[in-house]
Parts: sequence; structure tokens; C-alpha cells
Amino acid sequence: MSYDNEGGGRHAGHSGDGHGDGHSTEIAHIEGDPFADPGLPHHTPRRTDIDARAANRAERQVAALFALSSLLTIAFLVCFVTIDKDDDMYVLGLGTINSLNFALGVTLGGSLLCIGFGAIHWARKLMSSEEIIDYRHPMKSSPEDTAAVVELFQQGVADSAIPRRKLIWTSLVGAMALFPIAPVFALRDLGPLPHRKLRRTLWDDPNHRQIVQANDDRRIKASDFALGSLVSAKPNDLETQEDLAKAAIILVKINPNEIRSKEVADRGVRGVLAFSKICPHAGCPLGLYEKTTHHMLCPCHQSTFDLAAGGKVVFGPAARNLPQLAISADKDGYLYARDGFGQPVGPSFWERGDA
Ligand code: FES
Repeated sequence: MSYDNEGGGRHAGHSGDGHGDGHSTEIAHIEGDPFADPGLPHHTPRRTDIDARAANRAERQVAALFALSSLLTIAFLVCFVTIDKDDDMYVLGLGTINSLNFALGVTLGGSLLCIGFGAIHWARKLMSSEEIIDYRHPMKSSPEDTAAVVELFQQGVADSAIPRRKLIWTSLVGAMALFPIAPVFALRDLGPLPHRKLRRTLWDDPNHRQIVQANDDRRIKASDFALGSLVSAKPNDLETQEDLAKAAIILVKINPNEIRSKEVADRGVRGVLAFSKICPHAGCPLGLYEKTTHHMLCPCHQSTFDLAAGGKVVFGPAARNLPQLAISADKDGYLYARDGFGQPVGPSFWERGDA
């Protein structure tokens, strides 16, 4: 141990000359340097550091606390074997409680408390209170260690016989170079590519262009609609549920004067417009229609489409407008689709299918 003349600190790992290495003291006294190392505060010895009688007294106090802890532990054991577990007792402030529980709690708690107090008293009065500096050692390996590692590596290479067995080395490089190709080939199992399949619905087939009610397959006329009404519909003669999942539509009747563009109106019949029922965000079925604003709301993430503006997104996460299906009426007034949607329906992901 050594004390700095000016910084007052003791430096771990330095001894003998009474000044440490003087490094921190030197930095602390650079004039005008606001970031200078302030060094350690001056150590003021405690009474127990300079008065042997006080130190002895503190030692006895600590020992007394530890001894008391021992007695309380013995008392705990005695209580455990002597007190009947059904006995009750009256304790001021607690009322009538089980005697055994009370005795065990007091003795064990007191024992632990005495150990704690004794340790604190010991640390505060008798253990060294000086702050010390433990300087970091260099992180870099010494040249000797580095040379030893290199030598070990070279020895390992020599032991592996690679320098002498060129055939092994060459074949290993070949195997390692070819190995990654196997997983690349496995990617083929993700196919086949959807190609145009995702862009087509049953409406693209001329044999399935008649518009029928979703629930009872009845054909629908434009004259069946009242202003503001909404009907779920599908193509005639559906064969699979998968076909329905892509081809489901909704029909709404909007006052033709409130349709925003001639192009949108021309894709309908006297104000009856047809749109995909599948939300282009994540594919939820649509059905919440607000007839005064002509807004169609998706219940999943609240994407909102203005049907009077051709299914334009006016709110929410959907990235595409709601696809509109162009419809006409035959000579008897029944509605049919003129063609397919002309664009993918459903979640935006499908739009990325290979055309
Ligand atoms: S699925 Fe319609 S908003 Fe998300």
C-alpha cells in the first residue's frame, strides 16, 4: 500500500515507494484542463484506523452481534422442538397468534438481522475505507503469445497433412463449392409460378358471366335494386369454393348523379355498380356500406373505399383501389359481366404474380 502525496490515493498493484506511479496526480494538475482526471479524494482515517482501543471495541461489537445471531439460531431450534404447534399466545399489537409461528419468526429473523448488522458494522468500522485504482491491463496479446498461436496453427496445418495430401485439399474445395448449389435447387419446390392464374377470376370465362345472388343463385336485374341497396353476388355455375373466393362481388345502386365520373358510371347499369368483395389489403370480405357517402368500409383494418369514385381508397392501409367489374344488362334486364376484372383481385400480394 502507498499514499500519493497530493492525490491521497492508494493504487492497487503498486507498492513500496510511497507515491504510486504518480500518473493520476500528474493529470489532475494540468492547468485549465476541464476534463482532467481529478484523482482520488484525500483519505481521512477513521477513529478505528488510528485508535487501537476504538478498533478493539468495534471488533467486540461485531463479535457480539454474531454471537447473538448464534444464540437466536439455537433458540429457533429449541422453540421448534418444544412449543406445541397448536398453542396460541397474546402479543401486544398483534392480538392472539400461533405461539410456534411467532417464536420461529422472531428467532430466525433476529438471527439473520444480527448477521446483517454485524457485517455492516464490520465493513464500516474495521475494513479498509480507502478508494483504490486498479489499472487496466493492455488488451493486446504480447508478441510471445501471438507467436505461440501462429506456431500452434502452423503445427495444426502440418498435422492435418493438407500440405502433403493435395488430393484431399482439392477435393474438399470442390465439395464445399458445390454444396451450396443443392439448397438453390430445392427452391424449385416453391413453384410452380402462378403466372396469369392470379390475375384471372371466373368472370374471365364467358360461360360464367351471368350475375346471380350469392345465397340462392337467382339471376339479378338492375330493376331489383332500390337506391342505396347492397347485394352480394357471384358468377353462375360456380364449381369450387376457390372460384367463389376470388370472384365474389358486391352490387350497389347509387344515384347516377352522384357517381363521380362518366367512366365509372359507364361500367355499371343505371347506377348499379359491381365491385370485388375482397379487400385489396389483406383479403377480408367487404360488407359495411354507408349509403349517404357511398363509402365501403373493411371491418378488418378499416380501409375505406369510395364506390362513387370507382372504389378509390380514401382511408386505411389498402394500397389499391377496389377493382370494379364492368357490367351490362341483357334484353330481359338481367345483369352480366362484360369481361373479367382486368386486374388482380384480393390482397396486394397477388398483384405481384408473374404476368
Ligand atoms: S383486410 Fe381490409 S383493410 Fe385490411
